[in-house]
Amino acid sequence: MNETPILSAEDLSKTFKVSAQGHSSRILTALDQVTLHLSFGETLGIAGESGCGKSTLAKIMAGLLSPDSGRLLYKGMELSHLDRNSLTRFRRKTQMIFQDPFSSLNPRMRIGDSISEPLHIADIPAPEQRTELARIMAAVGLSSEAVNRFPDEFSGGQRQRIGIARALAASPEILIADEPVSSLDISIQAQIINILLQMKTDFKLSMMIVSHNLLILRHICDRIIIMYLGVVVECGPAAELFHRCRHPYTEALVAAIPGFQVSTASKSELLRDDLPSALSIPPGCRFHPRCRHAVDICRSEIPNLVEYASGHTAACHLSRQLYD
Ligand SMILES: Nc1ncnc2c1ncn2[C@@H]1O[C@H](COP(=O)(O)OP(=O)(O)OP(=O)(O)O)[C@@H](O)[C@H]1O
Ligand code: SF4
Ligand SMILES: [Mg+2]
Repeated sequence: MNETPILSAEDLSKTFKVSAQGHSSRILTALDQVTLHLSFGETLGIAGESGCGKSTLAKIMAGLLSPDSGRLLYKGMELSHLDRNSLTRFRRKTQMIFQDPFSSLNPRMRIGDSISEPLHIADIPAPEQRTELARIMAAVGLSSEAVNRFPDEFSGGQRQRIGIARALAASPEILIADEPVSSLDISIQAQIINILLQMKTDFKLSMMIVSHNLLILRHICDRIIIMYLGVVVECGPAAELFHRCRHPYTEALVAAIPGFQVSTASKSELLRDDLPSALSIPPGCRFHPRCRHAVDICRSEIPNLVEYASGHTAACHLSRQLYD
């Protein structure tokens, strides 16, 4: 087994300058010293409420956005140290799938040409391009006549198949999918998830999947990372997070899923108040204003991520007290 992760991040931070009308600009912290890794062949889920930094993290991991600080390592090599060829290889080998694939497709380009573009860029001879295009189209369940049609002739589910096909045409090693099914009907969601799982096996991919739907992540992921206001609060094996979580925020997220009874406390007790703005992050444990267990130390000291079981970490001062 390869011990070096295929992709890892160390202390990634990212801020944005935001300006509201009539106010001077302010600094918004989208990610604050996030450390994580993706192992070879693994499916890693990223979950958390809207605005916690999932997409920002996904774009940085895919090399589409630069962090303010921190390191990104591809097979143990720091990205900023890679020569031009290796960096190009990383970009090709790491493909991203978006919630709305339509926005990343050229509306005036036939989808056969859109999907083949990475093959063309890789200088693959035309006959082989056609064979590979047919193989990929079949793999994602698109009929061969579809090649001559334009993006607006397809349904949402079909467009996501096109997005996946285009990503696969680059022969990726890593697939990073940001909410790949959240805009689709429930029945179509299952089809796309199954395609992703099949692709993972057939194309030997390592995958990172961002979703606010924990049930989907539980179904497809080996490990899940829970984020809250720009930090990782818990990370562990998917099943363990559901049945033996170590952070009150994870407990609240799981309890919000119909059919999951993890606590006798009501949903409003488990998750108090609204999500604070990323412009005014609470001191200490940033979850403390919403946490029913918060004590003095929670309001002043930032909890570190501590490993409580093999591969299972959480950042909560009271984790042992609450969950052992
Ligand atoms: N380009 C940008 N300019 C300013 N602020 C941004 C920008 N991109 C993201 N943000 C802010 O950074 C924070 C994290 O955003 P991000 O899109 O990563 O969250 P998310 O977890 O993906 O949310 P969602 O579930 O809604 O997609 C949010 O507060 C967001 O408003
Ligand atoms: S550190 Fe304190 S406030 Fe934060 S999750 Fe744990 S108990 Fe709650
Ligand atoms: Mg997002």
